[in-house]
Amino acid sequence: MAKSLTIPPLTEDLAQVLIDADTINRRVTELAIQINNDYRDITEPLILIGVLKGSFIFLSDLCRKLTIPHVVDFIAISSYGNKGEVQGNVRMLMDIREDMAGRDVLIVEDILDSGNTLAYLQRNFATRGAKSVRIATFLDKPERHKIDLKLDYMGFTIPDVWVVGYGLDYKEKYRTLPYIAEMYPVH
Ligand code: XMP
Ligand code: MG
Repeated sequence: MAKSLTIPPLTEDLAQVLIDADTINRRVTELAIQINNDYRDITEPLILIGVLKGSFIFLSDLCRKLTIPHVVDFIAISSYGNKGEVQGNVRMLMDIREDMAGRDVLIVEDILDSGNTLAYLQRNFATRGAKSVRIATFLDKPERHKIDLKLDYMGFTIPDVWVVGYGLDYKEKYRTLPYIAEMYPVH
């Protein structure tokens, strides 16, 4: 018989689990139900655009709960340095392969912080003739917003702390933890 899996434990960098895997799973199901309902009448597949790398786990969980026609694509952008510091400048490093003209687009993001990234993407996609551009973000840090954005689908609101897990990293560490953990402040 296979042994059961244990949950990866917190390391000394991590203060606490903020959102556990079961809670995440239930919330992603709720978001998928909302999306399935909102896009129930679409004729052409919805283009889900994951923002690499942080959104890859949220996107994989979400798309497997969707019953509407959809395709998956990814973009890579640069806005944050490796140390996690904010850089207001957003740049496209890798674009999607699909033509988005006349299509419904859902941007899938790990976390909304200042709003720079999502504002840039919304503008960029609108100029490329997308029929609609909506946003699904797994986490939101309202205290850090610098730009007002309408979030169509949002998983959880969190305080202004650095979080890792479920796609989110600190210098590439902790990205694949199955829960969201709060890091101790780094000096
Ligand atoms: P903006 O400021 O453009 O930033 O809304 C969004 C991007 O900032 C990163 N970010 C985080 N990444 N833990 C992370 O691992 C965090 O607590 C965090 N806060 C912001 C993330 O890349 C997001 O896409
Ligand atoms: Mg990101």
